[in-house]
Amino acid sequence: MSSVKQEIEFAAVDIRPMHELDVSVIVEIERTAYQFPWSEGIFRDCLRVGYVCRTVDVDGDLGGYGIMSVGAGEAHILNVCIRDEYRCRGLARKVLLHLLERAHIAGMREAFLEVRPSNTAASRLYHSLGFEQVGVRRGYYQATVGREDAAVLRRVLVADLK
Ligand SMILES: CC(C)(COP(=O)(O)OP(=O)(O)OC[C@H]1O[C@@H](n2cnc3c(N)ncnc32)[C@H](O)[C@@H]1OP(=O)(O)O)[C@@H](O)C(=O)NCCC(=O)NCCS
Repeated sequence: MSSVKQEIEFAAVDIRPMHELDVSVIVEIERTAYQFPWSEGIFRDCLRVGYVCRTVDVDGDLGGYGIMSVGAGEAHILNVCIRDEYRCRGLARKVLLHLLERAHIAGMREAFLEVRPSNTAASRLYHSLGFEQVGVRRGYYQATVGREDAAVLRRVLVADLK
């Protein structure tokens, strides 16, 4: 993709653990990004139960986040979202690689996630990171009319993730 946005370099990109104090900003980003956003309570629950919750700060501004659960040899990427004005500059890829690396260090052998087939940007992102479709969950997502299926994607975790 070539865009003016891509030509602007960030001075500092920092991936760090998410804190309770971040949740109000995260909920704002979530509401602008998704038609059916997670509630504030879901983010607080993710922190409470100890999921791997990370934010990406862009020049000191909270630019996005990623959330993953790990257990029984598997990682599940539950949410990845980048603030609209910071998209298409490689931030989601950085966040995902960070999460996958954490999962590998924690001894997980593979990672799974669900994506709406209509979400082209996310589908391309995941496939570019080596995820491949292994199934479909029928009617998994809320939709404007009825429900939408989810594609289930998987990738094997190895050292030196790319
Ligand atoms: C999907 C999303 C997280 C991508 O974030 P991003 O920071 O813009 O993505 P990146 O810049 O890291 O892009 C990495 C790759 O993803 C793909 N991609 C990202 N945005 C894309 C777009 N608008 N169109 C097509 N491909 C896209 C490309 O393959 C890209 O690689 P390239 O730059 O070499 O072409 C972002 O659009 C977003 O937050 N969307 C709303 C929330 C969402 O849908 N999350 C996923 C739920 S499953």
